[in-house]
Amino acid sequence: MLDTLWNQVKINIESDTPCWEIFHESSKTGHYDGTLTNSQVVEVMSNLYDVFPYKQFPAIPLPETFAPIECSFMEAVANRVTPKEIAPVKLSLEQLRTILFCGYGVTRENKDSEYIHRPFRTVPSGGALYPLELYFYSNEKVEGLKAGLYHYSPVENSVQLIREGNFDNEIAETLVGFQTNLAYDTSLLIFITAVFNRSTFKYKEKGYRFALFEAGHAAQNINLAATALELGVINIGGYHDRLVDRFLKIDGLNHSTIYMNGICKGN
Ligand SMILES: Cc1cc2nc3c(=O)[nH]c(=O)nc-3n(C[C@H](O)[C@H](O)[C@H](O)COP(=O)(O)O)c2cc1C
Repeated sequence: MLDTLWNQVKINIESDTPCWEIFHESSKTGHYDGTLTNSQVVEVMSNLYDVFPYKQFPAIPLPETFAPIECSFMEAVANRVTPKEIAPVKLSLEQLRTILFCGYGVTRENKDSEYIHRPFRTVPSGGALYPLELYFYSNEKVEGLKAGLYHYSPVENSVQLIREGNFDNEIAETLVGFQTNLAYDTSLLIFITAVFNRSTFKYKEKGYRFALFEAGHAAQNINLAATALELGVINIGGYHDRLVDRFLKIDGLNHSTIYMNGICKGN
């Protein structure tokens, strides 16, 4: 029954060609595609958030300092691994700040630029449009933070508690059957979401690809940060997209979850 309902909401493409092939072909950059002028881009950007404000939720400042890191860059790259055993560990606010900053933090304010009014981040971004948002869930596994769903504000170096409570069971239902344990056994579950129009208004179909690339950049930085902090990190594609988006209270079309990362005890 539910099966049939899910299938009804799928977009029906009457073609023998697989959907990914149609998309890939349709998202190629052609010689004759029109491009927006810089001033058109700036005008559209002025009507788009660079990061969702969630102003109704008080900002909880993150520390200015990072957690100490002993490990070299080459060690972090070589030691990254999906942990064999997943167990939670209490994180300090500095560790949280380090992970979030590496994922999508602001590195340059960029105020003097004529065209690009967005602050630049730790990850490269097609057109410096920064289509991603980062959310995370933690059930009292970060010092000083209540259990609940948080949104990261890179510009303000703060987080906002947007849903307070223990949602372990709800999250377990969003994960595919063999890994529902991740809802209970991770210290942090990070949701990387994309607001597609922030990229597609300029790059059309290819802008969708750019948003996915960017999630990969952010996720790899999160992976390396966690490894350098001697924590475990797991990359999660096995989740039920619609349920995760419902949990985050995002619409799943204009704004949808595109990747998840779990942080746990290092092995
Ligand atoms: C896009 C993507 C999705 C993944 N999804 C899951 C997942 O849902 N569950 C899981 O246990 N591992 C997941 N992984 C981790 C891979 O299984 C793992 O990276 C791979 O087996 C290589 O092992 P390593 O990470 O230890 O190098 C995912 C990795 C990627 C890149």
